Amino acid sequence: AAAAVSLPALAQYPEKPITIVVPFAAGGPTDKVARDLAEALRKPLGGTLIIENVGGVGGTLGANKVAKAAPDGYTLLLHHIGIASAAALYRSLPYKTLDDFEYLGMINEVPMTLIGRPNLPATSYADLAKWLESNKGNINLAHAGVGSASHLCGLMYQAALKIDMTTVPYKGTAPAMNDLLGGQVDIMCDQTTNTTGQIEAGKVKAYAVMSSKRLTSGALAKLPTADESGVKGFNLAVWHGLYAPKGTPKAVIDKVNTALRTALKDADFHKRQEALGAVIIADARLAPAEHKKFVEAEIAKLTPVIKAAGQYAD
Ligand code: MLT
Repeated sequence: AAAAVSLPALAQYPEKPITIVVPFAAGGPTDKVARDLAEALRKPLGGTLIIENVGGVGGTLGANKVAKAAPDGYTLLLHHIGIASAAALYRSLPYKTLDDFEYLGMINEVPMTLIGRPNLPATSYADLAKWLESNKGNINLAHAGVGSASHLCGLMYQAALKIDMTTVPYKGTAPAMNDLLGGQVDIMCDQTTNTTGQIEAGKVKAYAVMSSKRLTSGALAKLPTADESGVKGFNLAVWHGLYAPKGTPKAVIDKVNTALRTALKDADFHKRQEALGAVIIADARLAPAEHKKFVEAEIAKLTPVIKAAGQYAD
């Protein structure tokens, strides 16, 4: 049952620091969105925002922490498409995705790139396709745990190629990137919020964009899409949203949603996010009801995709 929040407290909400749980390790793409958004939320929402990284089990540990938190508006979750893929991947989760959260609104959509360790002997996508074919049974793909976006992309990619890869889980794609740079793993599919810098600096091999449209900025504009490289129809981008525990008072939900709408119009937030390939969700799609409807539809869309790729789902 929702803890009763006295009316006067609502009037001053927030009157103490708000924690935004990021269900992946610090320094990764989800963390990047959270820190940029917290900057833009500070003024419209008021109060102090604290980012808490709770990594593990593909983002489900952090999601569960928020599902079980007091519904008082002081513990929020910033999560992405993984909240939907985990719902389709896990036979049982410690929380109910559609019933244990209040949906506070969506944030952005981030493209994904397929990258390789710096010394992988393949420069173009065509070279990579050949290398994958000839190294079957000996390919390590890094991801951020079953239920993460990088895992979902890897799962769909293995199914598209019908090549079974060894998948190496991390608490986020920041630590995964370290191992890729060190040559410990071969490839990874990760969001441009984490890969743009490495690709621009030539620190990793970059093979393709995993959404249907090419990117426009800098070195990423040279990347072909997976679809035009022969992985027909491959199209995955990572949407992000904000959540609170079920039972959070409507006045709090409305205040956070209003502040979110203002934050998404913040010029600095736009600049930072767009420089990394992210697209901010249009105001028209920002109602909480739209957010929940969208997640429901994404779970329905991803479930058959994940079932069909089941043998690669770890
Ligand atoms: C993911 O793969 O879901 C994210 O990239 C994980 C992260 O933000 O580190």
